Amino acid sequence: MSGSSEPVPGRPYRLEVLPSAGWARVVAASFGARLQARPALRVCLPTGDTPAPLYAELVAAEGRGDAPFASATVVLLDEWVGLPAGDPARCDVRLRDQLLGRLDGPPRFVAIDADAADPDAAAAAHDAECARGLDLVILGLGMNGHVGFNEPGSRPDDPTRLVRLAVSTREAAVTRYGLPHVPTAGITVGLARLLEAGEAWLLVTGERKASILRRALEEPEGPDCPASYLRRHPRLAVFADEPAAALLRRG
Ligand code: PGA
Repeated sequence: MSGSSEPVPGRPYRLEVLPSAGWARVVAASFGARLQARPALRVCLPTGDTPAPLYAELVAAEGRGDAPFASATVVLLDEWVGLPAGDPARCDVRLRDQLLGRLDGPPRFVAIDADAADPDAAAAAHDAECARGLDLVILGLGMNGHVGFNEPGSRPDDPTRLVRLAVSTREAAVTRYGLPHVPTAGITVGLARLLEAGEAWLLVTGERKASILRRALEEPEGPDCPASYLRRHPRLAVFADEPAAALLRRG
């Protein structure tokens, strides 16, 4: 990766526009197929509102034998720095609550050691885990174009690192969790590792994401919208529900 601002032609990506009521089942079926084909799948997973229906479908699919997680490795995408261990807003807690803790045969889970005395060292350790290889990364899209905590200003060659959070990210957390003190920092898997993964799936739902999804996919890539760099990925699939896809060129 050059890390420069020179335009790089976007690669073709797969866009699946799905009904709001059924998108999660479709994505869960694809995920289950990946697990069946490769039981030792190494997958990086996000938290947030977007993937919650997917995780519910995956729990159900595991119960039917369609999503065997037991030999897989789940690597956490991002984590707040400064929230105490066990806080319900922590990303590791949310992923355990919504998915990992509900599975009969849970995967190996690699959380981010956000409590470490040296968060830079913790980020480097997580980067090394990611650099061992990720078969699949699943991402949500922030209202400001972030993926993980790769906030505007991030570059495609950024490693996993300690980052300062955007004001809008912090405000969204206040609204969502009612936190009295929202952290100013986080650790995120960097765009470099996301772009190296075998596959990247971007999940986008809801009308409020329509404009930023169009920005990410159909305008020139740039650091103002880190998600736009995902178009460099050779195997990017975008799963959007109808309202989120409403502003995209189609056909
Ligand atoms: P959301 O967050 O899924 O809760 O909308 C996405 C994000 O900010 O990355």
